Amino acid sequence: MSGHGPATPMTAHKSGPLAGVAHVPGDKSISHRALILGAMAVGETRITGLLEGQDVLDTARAMRAFGAEVTQHGPGEWSVHGVGVGGFAEPDQVIDCGNSGTGVRLIMGAMATTPIAATFTGDASLNKRPMGRVTDPLALFGAQAYGRSGGRLPLTLIGANEPVPVRYTLPMPSAQVKSAVLLAGLNAPGETVVIEAEPTRDHTERMLRGFGAEIRVEDSPEGRLITLTGQPELSAQRVAVPRDPSSAAFPVCAALLVEGSDILVPGVSQNPTRNGIFVTLQEMGADLVLENPREEGGEPVADLRVRFSALEGIEVPPERAASMIDEYPILAALAATTKGKTVMRGIKELRVKESDRIDAMARGLEACGVRVEETEDSLTVHGMEAVPGGSTVQTHLDHRIAMSFLCLGMAAQAPITVDDASPIATSFPIFKALMTGLGAQITE
Ligand code: S3P
Repeated sequence: MSGHGPATPMTAHKSGPLAGVAHVPGDKSISHRALILGAMAVGETRITGLLEGQDVLDTARAMRAFGAEVTQHGPGEWSVHGVGVGGFAEPDQVIDCGNSGTGVRLIMGAMATTPIAATFTGDASLNKRPMGRVTDPLALFGAQAYGRSGGRLPLTLIGANEPVPVRYTLPMPSAQVKSAVLLAGLNAPGETVVIEAEPTRDHTERMLRGFGAEIRVEDSPEGRLITLTGQPELSAQRVAVPRDPSSAAFPVCAALLVEGSDILVPGVSQNPTRNGIFVTLQEMGADLVLENPREEGGEPVADLRVRFSALEGIEVPPERAASMIDEYPILAALAATTKGKTVMRGIKELRVKESDRIDAMARGLEACGVRVEETEDSLTVHGMEAVPGGSTVQTHLDHRIAMSFLCLGMAAQAPITVDDASPIATSFPIFKALMTGLGAQITE
């Protein structure tokens, strides 16, 4: 829902060693997709391990507004009675996607080839974010978008009456844009093709296949070529959502920040389009072991055993950016405590996330006494022996900025306060309980 209620400042204090088992919530990307594809399938989709963060709850509400029956049966256990491809009803209310770029962009794609109109809005953060990156390709199918300047929300989308299939080369590495085009392609006749120069998270492709769509992925000189045959009948599935690697990154990095820590984070997705942070941490010298690798719900998963380690700064290869795009804030926080500097290049996309994350991290780290340098598409953090802290950081309605600075506060000399921790509920509602359960000192 738009807005997060009153701002809730939160403070992290220097903490003793973190220890124990951290069960992080279900994957946010997969949770959105399970609800949306469930709503576009025929029959009852059963989901376990769904993330019950506000972003996903907003998508569940939106799917009801488009005519699907979405029911919670127990913690993380949900069912969706779908309406079939092309079966969306016209919502009689504005669709409020709250803080979620993934929610609004995927839902716009899913409705763009059905002849109905819907108006979308979000919170102050989402209404600043660019939507032209999605509405431009959706226009090629025949959909029409009427938004604010710069293609921003609130925005009304009118789905195509007679959709045509599309061949689209992504102008930026974005799984949201790729997914919007593929979901729109579901109700277009013929083959819709998406080409991505850099591979981005592939949950939509995997799940479309699981729901019975015909989808081919090939390597070509232009990049990954994804071909979807339109107008399939999607059949309801059982979806077991693995635990979110982007959420797991917070306790993992907290254990690397706080001396003497030793924790286990079980059942975390190791999808190669998502695991860049763990590769990077190992390159920095982290004692991070992937135990018990296995497959769950169509995704590779492992238990992460992590022990505090003295880390060294590195240059993160820019071609790894897409596979760890949401983890740069926590990596930047961790980099403040390592030997030497960490250079993160090719991260321009961070400027259009829930906040401008390069700017938010740079200003926040400076406020904590850390030396940083930024360019339009890079951030360099100079590690130091002891981070002074003792400051209040602006989080700009961004859950990952809030969690990153709370983790840093656990290792800084003086406490770090974030001005508003309420957005954490969008992706990791149990963050405070989980971290304090491991031994972190966090106060409201
Ligand atoms: C997501 C894709 C990424 C990521 C976001 C989730 C998804 O966004 O940052 O948190 O579920 O497809 P972009 O597509 O904008 O890179």
